[in-house]
Amino acid sequence: MSNAAITFSSVRKSYGGKLAVDGLSFRVEPGECFGLLGPNGAGKSTTTRMVLGMALPDAGVITVLGEPVPARARLARRRIGVVPQFDNLEPGFSVSENLKLFGRYFGMSKGEIEAVVPSLLHFARLEDRAHARVTELSGGMKRRLTIARALINDPQLIVMDEPATGLDPHARHLIWDRLRCLLARGKTILLTTHFMEEAERLCDRLCVIDRGRSIAEGAPNALIQEQIGSHVIEIYGGNPHELKALLMPFAQRTEVSGDALFCYTADPQHVCARLRERNGLRIVQRPANLEDVFLRLTGREMKD
Ligand SMILES: Nc1ncnc2c1ncn2[C@@H]1O[C@H](COP(=O)(O)OP(=O)(O)O)[C@@H](O)[C@H]1O
Ligand SMILES: [Mg+2]
Repeated sequence: MSNAAITFSSVRKSYGGKLAVDGLSFRVEPGECFGLLGPNGAGKSTTTRMVLGMALPDAGVITVLGEPVPARARLARRRIGVVPQFDNLEPGFSVSENLKLFGRYFGMSKGEIEAVVPSLLHFARLEDRAHARVTELSGGMKRRLTIARALINDPQLIVMDEPATGLDPHARHLIWDRLRCLLARGKTILLTTHFMEEAERLCDRLCVIDRGRSIAEGAPNALIQEQIGSHVIEIYGGNPHELKALLMPFAQRTEVSGDALFCYTADPQHVCARLRERNGLRIVQRPANLEDVFLRLTGREMKD
């Protein structure tokens, strides 16, 4: 028997003949933060809706917290907290009223609700906004309230669809801090994002998806090491083809993109030493990241 939090096995879903999810398989272990990373339209929201039993797969097998989904999705849902891509708070209600309303929706008693609301306000850093209307909150506050609301029934698994999209850097970092706090409490998180940086910071493992298909899966660092290596040097302002020949002996791989040369290397010192002999170049040296992985796997050219 599997004790996975979520299993997807060859799941397919199309809308009007167009595949949104195309044979997706992955497994989320209890206590981990698992990411679905991909651009807009990759099939992330469709996948989360299938986890929740809100969209029906055309083919494949799904289990969530040991329950077959969609058949027993209702049972699984009792132990899941949901943070949808677009906030669906009650705008005319106050912060604490929104939490209470959700508690009633889960069939909690007045006493049970009153007992948890203060800790949820504290979690969301909204203690001093308890009586503010939702319409008076900033984007970051609304997101934090939506996350706190998802915790009302103390769920084991939290499904978050792009929790930090549309937020400014301060608000985003505060959301990330709150998610780490949930992981420290042993919660399992399924997180979708199109921010490579978010996935790299938060996810224990992730599945990179593009056009409904998994194109890579693993721990962020392992994926970066396997696909890219440790260092990237971006070189602007020279003839990329000529520079490519110069740097080839020190590079694991090079890539010309427009007027730029991307050099992937384990030996950045030697590459930079060679480049110092040339004038007028702009050089950016940085650690390899998930964006490099994504661009390598999908190709650098625009797809729109
Ligand atoms: N309810 C729907 N009806 C028709 N097409 C849909 C629906 N939901 C999603 N799609 C299509 O499925 C694809 C994947 O969408 P979605 O899962 O929302 O991607 P993501 O969340 O990664 O941006 C897109 O091409 C989208 O237009
Ligand atoms: Mg989406």
